Amino acid sequence: MCRRDRHRPHAGWSGRGFCGTSSERRVLAWRPARPDTARERGAGTAGGWHVQQGNRGTSGGQRRHRQDPPAWRIPQARRQRSRGSGGNCIARRPVPLTGEVPLFDERTLLSTASRLLAREPSLPVALADTARLLTEALSGDGCLVYGIEANGELVVSATFPVRPPPKEPLRMPSGFGVTGRVAADGIPAVLVDDNPRNALHRELLGLEPGQLVSRLCVPARSPQGGCAAVLAVHSLARREFTSGEIDAAQRVADLVGLRVQLARASSALGDFEDRWESLVAATVTAQEGERRRVAGDLHDGVTQALASLTFHLSAAEVALTERDYDYGIDQVRAARATADLAFAEARNAISGLHSPVLEDLGLAAGLVSMARAVPNVQVEVDAQDLDLPVYVEAALFRIAQEAVQNVVKHADAVRALVSLVKRGRSIVLRVSDDGRGFDAPGRVSSALRGRDAASQYGLMGMYERVQLLGGHLSVTSDRGEGTTVEAVIPEVMN
Ligand SMILES: Nc1ncnc2c1ncn2[C@@H]1O[C@H](COP(=O)(O)OP(=O)(O)O)[C@@H](O)[C@H]1O
Ligand SMILES: [Mg+2]
Repeated sequence: MCRRDRHRPHAGWSGRGFCGTSSERRVLAWRPARPDTARERGAGTAGGWHVQQGNRGTSGGQRRHRQDPPAWRIPQARRQRSRGSGGNCIARRPVPLTGEVPLFDERTLLSTASRLLAREPSLPVALADTARLLTEALSGDGCLVYGIEANGELVVSATFPVRPPPKEPLRMPSGFGVTGRVAADGIPAVLVDDNPRNALHRELLGLEPGQLVSRLCVPARSPQGGCAAVLAVHSLARREFTSGEIDAAQRVADLVGLRVQLARASSALGDFEDRWESLVAATVTAQEGERRRVAGDLHDGVTQALASLTFHLSAAEVALTERDYDYGIDQVRAARATADLAFAEARNAISGLHSPVLEDLGLAAGLVSMARAVPNVQVEVDAQDLDLPVYVEAALFRIAQEAVQNVVKHADAVRALVSLVKRGRSIVLRVSDDGRGFDAPGRVSSALRGRDAASQYGLMGMYERVQLLGGHLSVTSDRGEGTTVEAVIPEVMN
C-alpha cells in the first residue's frame, strides 16, 4: 500500500456511501450536506465563480477555533463542465471524498510544524518543509506557498514537491483569483474541481492538459493583522477537505504567518542595525570634522595672533631696555590689541563662529586688516570686493591667514602680496612672497597627508578647505625665489 493510501482509510467509499468503521460512520453523521445545491449557493461571485460557504454551522465536534473563519467551497470546474467548456477535461478517478475524520494526529502535526518553523533558520527552507508536512498530513499531492510582497502581489516562494525554480516566478496581482482572495479576506477556500488556466500554475501543480485538481487554500495570518502568505495544498484525486483538515491546516498556516512576521521583524532589525551603524559612522565623521575645524581655527587664527603677540612683546622688551619708551609703549599697545584678537579667535574657534575680523569687515577689508597686523613683513593686499557666501569667505580668509603666517614664520621675506580676483568662472586667492623659498609640493593632493603630517598641518588645512569648495591648491616655490600659494575655487556667488 502506498503511503497515501495508508492515510486514506476511506478508499472503500463508493460515491457518497460509506463502508468504514462505526466510529467513522459516526463522524459522517455530523457532516453537513454537501453544499452544492443551487439554493445553498451564495449570491456572491468571485471571478465569475459561484462561491459556497462550506461546513456552515457545525464543525461536528472537531472544535473550530473561535476566530477561524469558515472556508469557502468553490465548485469552479463543475460549473465549467456543465456549460460544456470542460469537454477536454480528463475524467477524474471516481475517488471518493476523503471523509470527515482527521487522517492525521493534529497535535503531532502542530508540534512538528512549530518545531521546524522555530528551528529552521532559513525562511525558504522552513516554508518548503512546512509545505511538505502539510501535503503529507492531508494526503495531498503537493503544496504551493505564496508569499505576499509589499505591493500585495502573490509570488510562489516555496513548493512541495520541490521543483527547479522557473525562469519567471508565478506572480499574481493582489486580490486575483482564489488565492488572491484568500490573502485579501483571510478566509480559507476549498476548490474541489479546480481547472487553473495559468500554464505556469498548472506546471507547478503537475497537471496534464484538461486535468482537474482539488485544492485547499489557507491564509497564513500575521499576528499583526493581515495575511503574510497563502498555503495551497492540492490533490490530483478528487476530494473534499474536512472541517478538521481545514482547521488544522489553518493553524499550521498561522504558525507560518508568525514565522514570516518574525523573519520580517528580524530583517527590519538588520536594516535598523545598518542604519544605526551608518549613523554612528556619520556622527564620528562629524565629530572628526568638528575636531579638525577647531584645530584648524586654533592653528590659523589663535597661533598667528600669539606669534604676533610674541613679536610685539619682544620688540617692547628691546625698546624698553634701550629706553626707547615711545616705541616700547607702541609695541605694548600692539601686543595688547593682538592679545584681544587672540582671545576673540580662541573664543570663536570654540563656539564655531567665523573670525571676528571677517565678521566685522567682510573678506576684502578683512584681508587688509589682517595684513596690517603682520609684523616684520610688508604685506600688500589687492582684493576685489566679491559677493561670496559667508562659508566661502571664511574658508578663503583662513587660507590667506595661514599662507601669510607661513611667510612670517618660514620665508624670511621682505614683501608679500595677497590678491583676490575673479578670473573667468573661478575665484583666485594668491599669496606670494620674495622669501627664501622651499621644496614646495606644486599641486597639493591628499598624498601630502602621507608625508610628515605634523609638519604639513598648515598646508593640509589649506588643501582641505579648498577641496571642500570643489577647488584646488598649488604651492610653487624655488629656493631663493620666493613662494606662491594659489587657491582656485569655482565661482560661487551669493
Ligand atoms: N612661504 C613659505 N616660505 C618658505 N617655506 C615655507 C613657506 N610656506 C611653507 N613653508 C614650508 O612648508 C612647511 C609646512 O608648512 P605648514 O604646513 O604650514 O606647517 P607649519 O607652518 O606649521 O610649519 C613649513 O614648515 C615650511 O618649511
Ligand atoms: Mg603653517
